[in-house]
Amino acid sequence: MSILFEPSQIKKMPLRNRFVRSATCDGMAQTSGHVSSNQIKLIAELAAGGVGLIVHAITYAHPSGQVSSFMNSLADDEFIPGMKKLTEAVHHGIPLYCVAFSKNTMVPARRQDE
Ligand SMILES: Cc1cc2nc3c(=O)[nH]c(=O)nc-3n(C[C@H](O)[C@H](O)[C@H](O)COP(=O)(O)O)c2cc1C
Repeated sequence: MSILFEPSQIKKMPLRNRFVRSATCDGMAQTSGHVSSNQIKLIAELAAGGVGLIVHAITYAHPSGQVSSFMNSLADDEFIPGMKKLTEAVHHGIPLYCVAFSKNTMVPARRQDE
């Protein structure tokens, strides 16, 4: 069997296999920056497919990092419940990472299980 199906880890983070869904702008965030139901459905489908690691779509940690009308926001606590729903849609212990932008800098947001 291919090594791609073997467990791995990134630092202390265990991965069930070596398939990674890299950060991919899905264009499905609400224009307010909130997580949409279509994004939750997408992440749930990715998780059900058995991928080892999911990196969520483009997100901004400060309004200055917004480069698209359809990207998620983490610029205020009001966005946390939507992100929480996103992590809950993953289940199965698959890490979900989010890379958030702020003025050309990237801020790694917390992992699902941290
Ligand atoms: C359509 C598309 C959307 C992408 N969206 C994001 C994104 O939202 N955030 C991000 O950090 N990288 C994004 N990327 C970059 C990818 O995550 C990846 O780093 C890049 O495609 C290099 O990997 P590759 O050589 O396997 O294509 C995107 C890439 C593509 C092709």
